[in-house]
Amino acid sequence: MITGERVLWTSNEGTKFFKKTGETGVSLSRFGRASIESVRKFHSTIPGYKPTPLRNLDGMAKTLNLGAIYVKDESFRFGLNAFKSLGCSYAVAKLLASRMGLESEDISYETISGAEAGKALGSVTFAAVTDGNHGRGVAWIARMLGHKAEIFMPKGSSESRISAIRAEGASVTVRGMNYDESVEMTAREAGERGWTVIQDTAWEGYTDIPFWTMQGYCTMALEASEEIIRLTGGDLPTHVFVQAGVGSMAASVQGFFRACFPQNPPKIVVVEASKADCFYKSAVGGQGAPRVVSGDLDTIMAGLACGSPNFAAWEILRDYASLFASCPDYVTAHGMRALGCPERGDHRVISGESGAVTMGLLSLIMRDSRLSAMRITLGLNDKSRVLLFSTEGDTDPEKYRSITWDGEFPTYDLSVYSKP
Ligand SMILES: Cc1ncc(COP(=O)(O)O)c(C=O)c1O
Repeated sequence: MITGERVLWTSNEGTKFFKKTGETGVSLSRFGRASIESVRKFHSTIPGYKPTPLRNLDGMAKTLNLGAIYVKDESFRFGLNAFKSLGCSYAVAKLLASRMGLESEDISYETISGAEAGKALGSVTFAAVTDGNHGRGVAWIARMLGHKAEIFMPKGSSESRISAIRAEGASVTVRGMNYDESVEMTAREAGERGWTVIQDTAWEGYTDIPFWTMQGYCTMALEASEEIIRLTGGDLPTHVFVQAGVGSMAASVQGFFRACFPQNPPKIVVVEASKADCFYKSAVGGQGAPRVVSGDLDTIMAGLACGSPNFAAWEILRDYASLFASCPDYVTAHGMRALGCPERGDHRVISGESGAVTMGLLSLIMRDSRLSAMRITLGLNDKSRVLLFSTEGDTDPEKYRSITWDGEFPTYDLSVYSKP
């Protein structure tokens, strides 16, 4: 049973949020420091590994009356313009290592890619459904390891995202259905064709790969926490805003901070597209069970256009997250422009539609009096240190320009509302 309070913002189709008050607690043992250190150790063996930059947006923090805003820029991850490769590369490594009978400590890029691995594994075909970034990651790791990838995309997928996956040598098929329906169909087909499904969400009987994927994402949270501790001389962020599609990434960030810093974990705010706000609806539902959003899920936040929560992610976020927010498309468009056109002295962050919604929401919370309930609930003030993950760059460059240059999806007129 989830207790809390639903708050509706009165503008037409505006941002909604649900504040949670009760807490129980599923086990977070898989997110403990030792496990996550070994995940990073694996990632560091992949050619091209480098921690992504953490941008300290001092000017923006002052403008918004916050203590600090840190943005982890995942557009630099392995040259793939998004964070997703962290999850699928670790899941693939764990899977191949288990097929080779290797112990966890022995997993490295070398052990799963060498001649011995080739002999032991033969040629593997990985299958995945994606809005773009996960599939590009699967295609990339398959190519790097000398295997094949069959990638499926929901209807309406962008041409540039399709081409980026094909450029990794994968076969891409766009299905005439939404993300969740594509996942179901691909899982069925893979069984018939002998493909190995690498999906970033869990369902009954399919839990190992999504869990490894979630552990894989923790490398970015570990890097960010270390850098923030270094910058502040020992402090953690007080708040972390994380965007959710199936919720695996948000749950891994939540799991990491709660398991590794149990004394002073930051408050986690789960941020979704209002057209696919299954976590928000699950929280409002109040019974502790996940809720599904169906239909076309038509949002510009393609990576967040998932209507069915990963149930393992839901359990973690249900029990530990502080607040669930559901945002219209203009919120992320606002965030893309804010990050792309920074305050003097701040570093520019090129952030795509699924990367910038947390920045957009944070900015609106601090500047629009109609969202002051959210600001007060979260205790956001000039002492707060907020961490955001810009999870993708301009993965659809045409759309990026149309929003940032030409003003598609304008922010409503803030000037008519008084400052909080
Ligand atoms: C850029 C980006 N950000 C965030 C997410 C959300 O991750 P998850 O589906 O694990 O919630 C995705 C998912 O594809 C994504 O591509």
